Amino acid sequence: MSDAAPARIRPQRRPADLAAIEAVVARAFAKHGGTAAFRDFRASREDIISLVAERDGNIVGTVLFSPVVLDSPAGPVAGMGLGQLAVDPACQQQGIGSALSLAGLELLREQACPFVIVIGHAGYYPRFGFAPGADHGIECQWDNIPAETFMVMFPTGKREGLTGRAAFDGL
Ligand SMILES: CC(C)(COP(=O)(O)OP(=O)(O)OC[C@H]1O[C@@H](n2cnc3c(N)ncnc32)[C@H](O)[C@@H]1OP(=O)(O)O)[C@@H](O)C(=O)NCCC(=O)NCCS
Repeated sequence: MSDAAPARIRPQRRPADLAAIEAVVARAFAKHGGTAAFRDFRASREDIISLVAERDGNIVGTVLFSPVVLDSPAGPVAGMGLGQLAVDPACQQQGIGSALSLAGLELLREQACPFVIVIGHAGYYPRFGFAPGADHGIECQWDNIPAETFMVMFPTGKREGLTGRAAFDGL
């Protein structure tokens, strides 16, 4: 942790925040590339959760959750996917990514969202309760994703019947 000012987590204001979010995402993913579709989700969809971290009036981090459908044995179940988490490289390692993730997951727990998926670093997301999808019989929509990077968590703690293939709506 640094002694920098704490970041404030708040919902995205649209369209005012979009350019600043884009800039943070571009800086954070400069080496790895991002997913352009998420830009459109942030700009136009109402059924997302998009939060930003603001410090001294500047957006320094962002997280997006967007709808996912699980093709369960009992039929489709609506959940969410943590689609994009990014923190400005100058502000990483200060707990901002964790604060954004936890704030979004808490909102989803309050909304009784049954499951959340993520494709990401296997060393990072387990701290928020994520575990490999394979441990819970949940598969990724894409076959070429390394198994350990596809993870799921259950905000309400209930897991019954939640198995099958999970797909991001719109991807
Ligand atoms: C991943 C990211 C969002 C973390 O943000 P952050 O604000 O630095 O995270 P926090 O300060 O909350 O947590 C820091 C921890 O994350 C870990 N971490 C950061 N990047 C990691 C990675 N690629 N793999 C595994 N762990 C990672 C750090 O080692 C540190 O661990 P520690 O708490 O055990 O010391 C940020 O590094 C980032 O934007 N990276 C580039 C974009 C990206 O990869 N996004 C995630 C896509 S899955």
